[in-house]
Amino acid sequence: MKIIQALNYEQLSKLAGEVIATQVNEKTNSLLGLATGSTPTKTYQVLADLYNAGKVDFSQVKSVNLDEYVGIEQNHSQSYFTYMNENFFSHVNIDTANTHLPNGNVDDLQTECKNYETLINRLGGIDLQLLGVGHNGHIGFNEPANAFPEATHVVKLDDRTIKANARFFESEADVPKYAVTMGIGTILKAKKILMLVTGEDKADILYKTLTLEPTPEVQSTALQFHKDVTIIADEKALTKIKELNPELLK
Ligand code: GLP
Repeated sequence: MKIIQALNYEQLSKLAGEVIATQVNEKTNSLLGLATGSTPTKTYQVLADLYNAGKVDFSQVKSVNLDEYVGIEQNHSQSYFTYMNENFFSHVNIDTANTHLPNGNVDDLQTECKNYETLINRLGGIDLQLLGVGHNGHIGFNEPANAFPEATHVVKLDDRTIKANARFFESEADVPKYAVTMGIGTILKAKKILMLVTGEDKADILYKTLTLEPTPEVQSTALQFHKDVTIIADEKALTKIKELNPELLK
């Protein structure tokens, strides 16, 4: 795995935006795998700035998002559908007909999961998958488990995830308990992966992601199986690696 060190969140976001813009400039009809959460919000702003400066064109780009909550309306203020429209799609010239998220608000979630997996394959597979990471190592919403999930599936959210995401809802009780997420197998099929890690509270999980033997207890360790992973991390997220395993950064 390639680790790019950024000084801070600003620089991390700038670097991440440049990686994504380069991907789009090299392949104008790229299928981007997109992520939500607080980590990539500024990356999306950087991409909007690059678009406004005429440096990248999203008109042919297609996208698939990692995950979506179950049981809230698509236009709920905290759905990932809303997040993507507010943070990214409405600021660039992507055709929203080419943007896809799993729909967590359907009766037949199993069929939705199967169809989502089929859709990704039909679109030619993900060229670049953007990822954040949860404190427990979840990528997408793949929570600690006794196996690495292969395909898009319904997952029960961890208490810690619900607590972490409560900041976006009126109360913890309002946070959905389930989500639909790409599986680890889906993510690992992406041609390239770009993971962003910021802040001291992620230093421990970044360290584990890189140093533990791959284990489904820490789903992000599955990234060790992929041959083209770039991690952009800021100084604070790198503190534990610098302290215990600085050679990883050479
Ligand atoms: C969320 C998302 C993940 C995200 C992670 C970290 O719940 N499902 O895709 O990467 O948790 O979020 P944040 O970037 O806000 O720390």
